[in-house]
Formats: sequence, structure tokens, C-alpha cells
Amino acid sequence: MSDKLHIVTIDGPAGGGKSTVARLLAQRLGYTYLDTGAMYRAAAYGCQQAGIDPSDEHGVATMLKNFNIELQPPARAEDDVRVFLNSQEITPFLRSPEIGMMASSVSALPVVREKLTQLQRQIGQQGKIVAEGRDTGTVVFPEAAWKFYLDATTEERARRRVEQLEQRGMQVDRATILQQIIKRDLNDSTRSIAPLKPADDAIVIDSSQMAADDVVKLMLSHISTTG
Ligand code: DC
Repeated sequence: MSDKLHIVTIDGPAGGGKSTVARLLAQRLGYTYLDTGAMYRAAAYGCQQAGIDPSDEHGVATMLKNFNIELQPPARAEDDVRVFLNSQEITPFLRSPEIGMMASSVSALPVVREKLTQLQRQIGQQGKIVAEGRDTGTVVFPEAAWKFYLDATTEERARRRVEQLEQRGMQVDRATILQQIIKRDLNDSTRSIAPLKPADDAIVIDSSQMAADDVVKLMLSHISTTG
């Protein structure tokens, strides 16, 4: 491990439990949790506010010229990371299914990926990071010491996403969420740049039948044997 960064990456499709697991793992290791999806959601929010279509590369590039985001840890570890766009907090606006879909579109643009990947690497320089996303093990931190790919059946991921959104007080339709998950996974895994896929050296975990704590235990056992 000596020449590798003290970075753990957790990639995988929407609703696979990455956020819960990444947060818990970061707590257990005393590492910083890096939610890269929150950055793509912030880019989607920026487009929404400016009335820019997320597929309009020129419009998005213009929006990005005045796009300074900062992430701050929440007061309670189980809450969402706090996101500031040009010094204004936008955390409460980022978790809707609509922003998730827009984030999936906008994240396919090279101009967006370049900017956010650079920012993620800057944050990663400090080491001791648990990064979560779609390309953290393949593209952002290829030298990470520990890489995981967290998957679950589509049905189970939709079930978890509905539960999560309801806990946040949103009214959602299960069939719509399932369709959105299928569409988002297709977008994310078929785009030409940094598509969603396991890194060659990632440990793939199917969490369909596992509680988050058990996934964390399994990850910790891999980390302790190779650390
Ligand atoms: O993890 P999430 O649901 O918050 O991510 C929202 C979208 O952002 C996801 O559908 C694709 C994009 N994303 C990405 O392209 N690369 C990442 N590392 C993280 C998220």
C-alpha cells in the first residue's frame, strides 16, 4: 500500500447504498467522506437556475465560468454533505429525482467532467478520503489503495431510493423511480467519458441481501488485510 494513496473509492449505480456505506466507512476510518455525486447535482442545479438545458454544451460551459462550489461536512454525520454554490448554500435543493436526472445528463459533458474531476483530485490530495461516485476508482483516483464497486438488483435499488426520498419528506411514485433508475444507469454506463463500470482492481459487492453495516464490515476486512 505504501506508494498508493490513502483513498477508498466506492462506485456503483444509483441506489446501491453507496452514500450510507461511504459515510459509515469514513466515520470508522476517521477519513473524510467525498460525495462526488453532490458536485454533479450542483452543476445540474446551476443549469436549472440559469434555465440552461443540460445537454447544451456551450450554455453549460458558460455557466461553469461562474461556478464555485465548496463542500462542507454536515453537523450530524448521517446528514447530506453541505454544498455551497458561489457561497450560497444549495444543499436542500439537490436531492430531488429531477436534479438526479439532470445531473446524469450534465455529467456526460467533457467540460463538466474536467472541472469536477480536477476539484475532486484537489480534495483527494490530502489523502484519507472515502470517495463515492461513478468513476472515482477508474478515472478520478486510479491510484487509490482500496476500490469497491457496490451493486444491487434494480428492484432493490428502487426500493431503497423510494425509502430514502420518503424519509426526506418527498412524495414519490415507485414505478417512476424504478424507470428513472433504469434510465440513469443506462446514461451513466453508456456515456463515452468516464462511464460507470467497476475498476479492473475493484472488489465487487452485491449488497442486495446485505445491511449497510455488513457491507462496511466486509470493506473494513479487505482494508485491514491489505493496509
Ligand atoms: O450519486 P448521485 O446519484 O448523487 O449522482 C448523480 C449523477 O451524477 C449520476 O446519475 C451521474 C453523475 N455522477 C457522475 O457522473 N460521476 C460521479 N463520480 C458521480 C456522479
